[in-house]
Amino acid sequence: MKNMLNIITIILCAWLSWGRTDGAQKRESGEVSFHKIQASSLFPSSSAPCVFSPRASNTKSSLQVVHRHGPCSSLSSKKAKTSPDHEEILRLDQARVNSIHSKLSKKLTARDRVSQSQSTDLQARDGLTIGSANYIVTVGIGTPKRDLSLAFDTGSDLTWTQCQPCLKKCYQQEEPVFNPSSSSSYANVSCTSPVCESLTSQGLNRQCPASNCFYGARYGDGSFTQGFLAKEKFTLTSSDVFDGVNFGCGVNNQGYFSGAAGLLGLGRGELSLPSQTASKYNKVFSYCLPSSPEHTGHLTFGSAGLSNSVKYTPITTATPTFYGVDIVGISVGDKALVIPSTVFSTSRSIIDSGTVITRLPPQAYDALRTAFKEKMSNYKTTSGPPPFDTCYDFTGLETMNIPKVSFSFKGGTVVELDSRGVLYTVNMSTTCLAFANNTGLGNVAIFGNAQQRTMQVVYDGPGGRVGFAPNGCM
Ligand SMILES: *[C@@H]1O[C@H](CO)[C@@H](O)[C@H](O)[C@H]1NC(C)=O
Ligand SMILES: *[C@@H]1O[C@H](CO)[C@@H](O)[C@H](O)[C@H]1NC(C)=O
Ligand SMILES: *[C@@H]1O[C@H](CO)[C@@H](O)[C@H](O)[C@H]1NC(C)=O
Repeated sequence: MKNMLNIITIILCAWLSWGRTDGAQKRESGEVSFHKIQASSLFPSSSAPCVFSPRASNTKSSLQVVHRHGPCSSLSSKKAKTSPDHEEILRLDQARVNSIHSKLSKKLTARDRVSQSQSTDLQARDGLTIGSANYIVTVGIGTPKRDLSLAFDTGSDLTWTQCQPCLKKCYQQEEPVFNPSSSSSYANVSCTSPVCESLTSQGLNRQCPASNCFYGARYGDGSFTQGFLAKEKFTLTSSDVFDGVNFGCGVNNQGYFSGAAGLLGLGRGELSLPSQTASKYNKVFSYCLPSSPEHTGHLTFGSAGLSNSVKYTPITTATPTFYGVDIVGISVGDKALVIPSTVFSTSRSIIDSGTVITRLPPQAYDALRTAFKEKMSNYKTTSGPPPFDTCYDFTGLETMNIPKVSFSFKGGTVVELDSRGVLYTVNMSTTCLAFANNTGLGNVAIFGNAQQRTMQVVYDGPGGRVGFAPNGCM
């Protein structure tokens, strides 16, 4: 059965890469600056089966990444296959963006606010960031191991899962809640241990009413998790097993975590999984987010399977958790937009796996939107849900020509977005330019996950760089 699946995916891949050769023909006919896309690719049939990424099964230290909604997610298999509620996803996305902005803008003016930052109340308001937790991996926790689905997030450090007994509250999750008392490898962390003492410096709350370390993490949209800081065995793949990983055993949790059992923290901080597994993976990981919920992608630890065509840009280290990058320009249909260089150097930029829609400084967004609209003037416009303001009704059309969009990063790295990274389909009659305007001049630009789809995105900690290669899920 598994062999059969592999054969099918190989045939599919051969067929897909065959389809790519028409790029060469297009170049000759001068159409290179457009994606020709089929309407059917924007509106996949809801009964489509899951197509597995061969990369995840062929590469060592690789986990399958699934979209929270759709046929590949075990979290949605019990219910009727519900299509994602896009307005809800976009609303939560805005909450995440707001909390990133409030955190990073605070950083910007840290010196002016020294006195304020000593008020505990401020910390509670700003919180960490969560958003709509769209991409899920399954990891084994404990002995015997329990497989749990966690949302992975490059914007946070602490890995946690809900734990029994839920002392106050647990939100609803699809899988049974982890029970530390039935795991022989579980151990509480004591209050006097250095990792407990480091919690506050990593943006988390620390409480020590007794001898065990109690953590708290509060996210920007009001979600939170509180519980015991503990050590446990983590089984990422059958050959990649780690003893004594520090994680949060959350006994009071609330929020919208997509029915996932918790969060896998992939940030830059000391508590993140890449930092804790550095002896094996050297703080290198990569992922490919699937083109649609009907496909899987992968999250791969270490440098196995990295494409030769990865192009890198330096990580800027302005924040302890987030991966900062320098966006330096944007092209639409092969033409560079006119954006003064101070626009991005003032806003600064991060790359984030948890923000869905890329946020741009107003001047950059306006230039992108204007150029895109010009090239899309043949199509019927319509209104869309916030944050979108540039939407089209493609009803009745079989194919569309969509201008290509590329981002330039510091170091000469140019990344051409997949057509799925240019448009966001809300419903059959509403497809929008998949970017949004930042609401303030000083707010950081965020390169979001809709734009990262189908690329191999590489995080190279020791190299201090983030890289991109096309066709990363293959
Ligand atoms: C961890 O600490 C909690 C609270 O003190 C306690 O109920 C639990 O039994 C401890 N677990 C272990 C394995 O020591
Ligand atoms: C599609 O979304 C738009 C914008 O949110 C909404 O106004 C419209 O009613 C929706 N149409 C359908 C068919 O659901
Ligand atoms: C983007 O935001 C800026 C500042 O808030 C505003 O002046 C501008 O009109 C916005 N652009 C669009 C296209 O909404």
